[in-house]
Amino acid sequence: MQRRYPPSHRWRQAQSIDELAGMASKRLPAFAWEYLNAGAEDERTLNDNRSAFQRWQWRPRTLVDLSEIDSSATLLGRQSAMPLAIAPTGYNGMLWRDADIALARAAQQHDIPFTLSTVSCNSLEEIAAAVPTGRLWFQLYPLRDKQATRDLIARARAANAEALVVTTDAVVLGRREWDSRSYLNPRRLNLRHTLDALCHPHWAAQALWPNGLPTLGNLLKYLPTGEHSAASAATYISQQMATDLTWEALDEIRQQWSGKLIVKGILNTEDALHCQRLGADAIVVTNHGGRQLDDSPASLDCLPAIVDAVGQQLEILLDSGIRRGSDIAKALALGANGVLSGRATLYGLAVGGEAGASHALTLLQQQLHNTLALLGRPRLSQLDRDCLAPPLHLSSHTSGYLTASAVDGRPAIVQSTSPTNDDTFLNLLCDGFGDSVLLGEAIPASCFSDWTGHAACRPLALVSPATTEEVAKLLRLCNDHHRPVVPQGGMTGLAGAAVPSADSIAVSLCRLTGVESVDRDAATMTVRAGTTLQTIQEAATQAGFRYPVDFGARGTCQIGGNIATNAGGHGVIRHGMTRDQVLGLEVVLADGRTIDLMNGMLKNNTGYDLKHCFIGSEGTLGIVTRAVLRLAPPQGESHTLLCGLPSYPAAVALLHRLRSAGLALEAFEVMWQDFYTMSCGWRDGQLPLPTSYPLYLLCEAEGDASHLEAALEAALETGEVEDAVLASSTTQARGLWAIREATGEFPVKLAPINFDISLPIPAIGDFVETAGKMLQQRWPGVRIVNFGHIGDSNLHLTVDGRSLTEDTPATRHAIESAVYQWVGKYRGSISAEHGIGLLKRDFLHHSVRPEALNVMHTLKQALDPHGILNPGKVLN
Ligand SMILES: Cc1cc2nc3c(=O)[nH]c(=O)nc-3n(C[C@H](O)[C@H](O)[C@H](O)COP(=O)(O)OP(=O)(O)OC[C@H]3O[C@@H](n4cnc5c(N)ncnc54)[C@H](O)[C@@H]3O)c2cc1C
Ligand SMILES: Cc1cc2nc3c(=O)[nH]c(=O)nc-3n(C[C@H](O)[C@H](O)[C@H](O)COP(=O)(O)O)c2cc1C
Repeated sequence: MQRRYPPSHRWRQAQSIDELAGMASKRLPAFAWEYLNAGAEDERTLNDNRSAFQRWQWRPRTLVDLSEIDSSATLLGRQSAMPLAIAPTGYNGMLWRDADIALARAAQQHDIPFTLSTVSCNSLEEIAAAVPTGRLWFQLYPLRDKQATRDLIARARAANAEALVVTTDAVVLGRREWDSRSYLNPRRLNLRHTLDALCHPHWAAQALWPNGLPTLGNLLKYLPTGEHSAASAATYISQQMATDLTWEALDEIRQQWSGKLIVKGILNTEDALHCQRLGADAIVVTNHGGRQLDDSPASLDCLPAIVDAVGQQLEILLDSGIRRGSDIAKALALGANGVLSGRATLYGLAVGGEAGASHALTLLQQQLHNTLALLGRPRLSQLDRDCLAPPLHLSSHTSGYLTASAVDGRPAIVQSTSPTNDDTFLNLLCDGFGDSVLLGEAIPASCFSDWTGHAACRPLALVSPATTEEVAKLLRLCNDHHRPVVPQGGMTGLAGAAVPSADSIAVSLCRLTGVESVDRDAATMTVRAGTTLQTIQEAATQAGFRYPVDFGARGTCQIGGNIATNAGGHGVIRHGMTRDQVLGLEVVLADGRTIDLMNGMLKNNTGYDLKHCFIGSEGTLGIVTRAVLRLAPPQGESHTLLCGLPSYPAAVALLHRLRSAGLALEAFEVMWQDFYTMSCGWRDGQLPLPTSYPLYLLCEAEGDASHLEAALEAALETGEVEDAVLASSTTQARGLWAIREATGEFPVKLAPINFDISLPIPAIGDFVETAGKMLQQRWPGVRIVNFGHIGDSNLHLTVDGRSLTEDTPATRHAIESAVYQWVGKYRGSISAEHGIGLLKRDFLHHSVRPEALNVMHTLKQALDPHGILNPGKVLN
């Protein structure tokens, strides 16, 4: 027997959303139906949005107490009868007269939020008047006319909208070809569709009579007088869509709107993280119901990775393809906090107005209730990934859900979930490594965090292998059991890169120490990774050389750590970073393979120079066990000079002048006036120079003193230098350096927010000025001090947290965000020498382009397919 739905006017009997859709397709003329239902281009994404839900199957539990089934949820901090809100949909008036009011009322009946579109037919004010106690969210399409955008935001506030939903994925309209085929030109129906409209008198009488096509209520006040028709409004909006909507523009909107902010249009983790940094309260994971970019992934497929990335920090809503209560349950099981209903409620609206929309909501709620019961999870909080069997197209070892990378089009990095439990693994560890394993209380607190103290955490175990072979054996074991491994050197890092997680194995290199040999002919030294920088410097001096990398942590930091962070320090202007001192490396890969790259020759062009992948990789690609280092000749006569300068361009001119005077510059440190004045204020005794100069230069130069004096004289004559002091003794030189080294006192005397950034040398002066103004504008009265190793492009900008009205983590985060964004504008680097680690990970995209980021992920995947090495550092 053939099954048939009831006739379309008996929509109250409809049992499913699909049935309502069928009825709507009959009640509406084809052009209105296509507007409502069509997807972009070949509609592959539209269809995949539905298939994505079918790919997941339930794993129901039985014999569970079902006497109380609760499908209520919290959305944006308020209780809702179900985890659903009505999605913003424009031009609903084509389906039903006063459609937006009808939807808002249906939402109110069901105790859920309703989202009004910017391009709605009823205005914000009409909704506020008709449904004053309903939960209203307002969806904003930012307009080119900034004044109108600000006005819309103000009107949303006045209408008591609880949230602003900024849609980011439709500034350019998708090509809905089936919709477009109804028209002769964008505003005129073709003959066939005009006739078709006449054949739908019920619809015409209800939706069009007596005023014809409705206009866009929210936009009327921005249209020229006398041009308020639907066609004029449509022309206006098509010209007004803000194609320059960027993160900066969104940030401005965030500043204007103090209520809840939802960003709608997110499909990948990078953008989700961006929203988090920007201070959004929630995001909508959506492909706009398949109406924008065809072949975008189904929203549901993108959800798990986004939940993993920001689920703790942001509320996550999902839409696209929700047609059943079980779809809502699946989205929640994969980590969403709630969903939006687009077409599902519009089908109801199109057949029965407010009552029809309400019927659609009732169906969804009943189906959700029923799903919870049959699944054996009577409460929403019991929905998790365990409820679902893996989608059919995924292999079982991906722990049942798509990883971030697979969804973003990058190779999948399988999450490092351990197949063995902790006890079994620890037994294996102790069996294999005996006394070099420390567990529980025996693990020293010094390995819980690095110098920053950030996110201190006791690892599951600390292992200190003494040989390369032991490191290799340890990594093999951890890799086989997918156990996270965190390499640790001297723990002096300043980026949180060596911080362990509770389930990780910290690997300390402190027993793999010693200088193995010095090759005087080649001027090289072979060392083990755990050797401290100071030991290496001393051994080089003893052999008649110099190891030129130097900085304050020399007594504790290890060469393995220096290599892993590509450390800089003093003297980079002359000798380069650690990368420039490394000739060869021995590295153990994640799976325990050891690669011998122990080249000792200055010239060696044989294929890819693989060592560079590991230098600066912060323990995420391999563990360095040995290295061959270049040695420099011992230092000659050196001079220390402090100058007062009129401007930043003068400092750059002086840099050229000193270089071309045949001097070898060891340091070229520029202090801005605020820094100099502050530092001198912390010291007793006479000032070497008055505090009246805009800039100060501390320079260390090696070479003939007469060359330096001649260059200085010429600089004084041209006005590049206004005053200068040349140290005549080591004590005087130390006194001058003490002014610059005030940075060591920052943690005690300020509440510093430190920036270690690099910028093109000519732009540094301008950056200091414009970034300073930008910070002052947003945080009036904020105190900023700047100094930089200008010859190395490195600026250290410090914000004093004590000068802020509120020194909270959120303010600090906002300041970081603002400064790094500014750095991105100048094509600078957010990390000059301290690395990315945990602390700068979320800002990486300001300096690294998406294609490069993609290659980084590919490299990580190739060398560490299980993602065990220092997970979560540098890359997400
Ligand atoms: C007072 C002070 C001054 C500083 N001045 C400077 C400066 O001027 N310039 C500068 O660049 N830095 C500076 N630093 C930062 C820090 O000292 C360097 O980053 C240093 O290179 C870290 O070495 P570490 O052995 O302490 O490494 P850790 O902090 O232990 O680890 C840092 C990173 O390296 C990884 N790692 C450690 N050992 C290995 C290994 N064998 N194989 C693979 N990965 C490994 C860790 O997993 C982590 O990602 C300073 C720090 C302090 C405390
Ligand atoms: C007819 C129609 C109009 C829409 N108009 C808007 C809009 O004005 N603003 C917006 O952010 N999204 C708009 N959307 C997208 C929805 O908010 C939502 O993302 C989408 O409908 C979800 O998919 P679903 O229809 O499969 O539930 C529209 C969708 C439809 C179907």
